[in-house]
Amino acid sequence: MALMNLSRFILEEQRRFKEATGDFTIILEQIAFASKIIAREVNKAGLVNILGSLETQNVFGETQQKLDVFANQKMIEALEHIGKVCAMASEEVETAIEIPSKYQKGKYVVVFDPLDGSSNIDVNVSIGTIFGIFRKKEEECLLVDNLLQKGRDLIAAGYVVYGSSTMFVYCAGSTVNGFTLDPSVGEFLLSHPNIKTPQKGNIYSVNEANSNKWDKKVREYIETLKSEGYTSRYIGSLVSDFHRNLLKGGVFLYPADEKNKKGKLRLLYEAFPLSYIVEHAGGASCDGTIDILDKVPQTLHDRTPLIIGSKHEVDLFKKVMVS
Ligand code: AHG
Ligand code: MN
Ligand code: MN
Ligand code: MN
Repeated sequence: MALMNLSRFILEEQRRFKEATGDFTIILEQIAFASKIIAREVNKAGLVNILGSLETQNVFGETQQKLDVFANQKMIEALEHIGKVCAMASEEVETAIEIPSKYQKGKYVVVFDPLDGSSNIDVNVSIGTIFGIFRKKEEECLLVDNLLQKGRDLIAAGYVVYGSSTMFVYCAGSTVNGFTLDPSVGEFLLSHPNIKTPQKGNIYSVNEANSNKWDKKVREYIETLKSEGYTSRYIGSLVSDFHRNLLKGGVFLYPADEKNKKGKLRLLYEAFPLSYIVEHAGGASCDGTIDILDKVPQTLHDRTPLIIGSKHEVDLFKKVMVS
């Protein structure tokens, strides 16, 4: 069978959605392009002056790593000039990102975490990029209704894992498909068609250093999984922990705790896109009581507790929390 590269796959998927105008295809291709540029820097990070942190901080007071800022710039540069986007939101930018007046605005809103797992950048551990795409609701681009949309209104989402290989995984409303970068041709080639996550796994992924700050029911939940013979895996990069569980099954949790009462992870550009992916792959996600995609963000940088992965483990968590 002919090699299926990302561009061809997106076009063939677009043809099935008659109303698709190709705008959307260009956005996905540009995100893939930006991810190749980021991958190139990640893969030689130790050799170029891209490691280490800057004196700057983001809205969370997190010291920005050079690669955080580099990845953020590449995502914005890839999307702002194509005339398909009317506003963006990024973990690394406090306010909504406007399209410069010299460029035409489009009908989509893109939200992203340009570099996920920043604490792993300098130690050569997998990191990623996460993105979600909404249609604009209002003519005026920067209106709240365009930026703070409900998770269910996502029309596409995806992520890139810069790991032992660079993988681009996305869903545009139907199946979830994974593409692996072949650096010799600079193309993402279809390697994981129609990803379905196992209904039940045997991996749990959580930072147990926080366990004494959790609600005791969360501790009980983890003890239950341990008693059932689950194994623990925690990389510390959400995208990598999520991707492993998506393929193998299992559950990732970043629950609320005494320090992070609303959890640590961000709703708009971390929890929403990965929840969109996991639901289309047959999995589930919640904040402990309600499905992540049913939430409506109040601000660009809302945090949320996140329990995400195989349906069995997520449903069990909900049961334990109401017991
Ligand atoms: P980011 O690097 O985009 O700020 O995200 C970091 C997140 C996520 O990638 C990971 O799951 C989590 O932080 C790890 O947090 P802890 O170090 O508190 O476990
Ligand atoms: Mn960060
Ligand atoms: Mn992140
Ligand atoms: Mn980040």
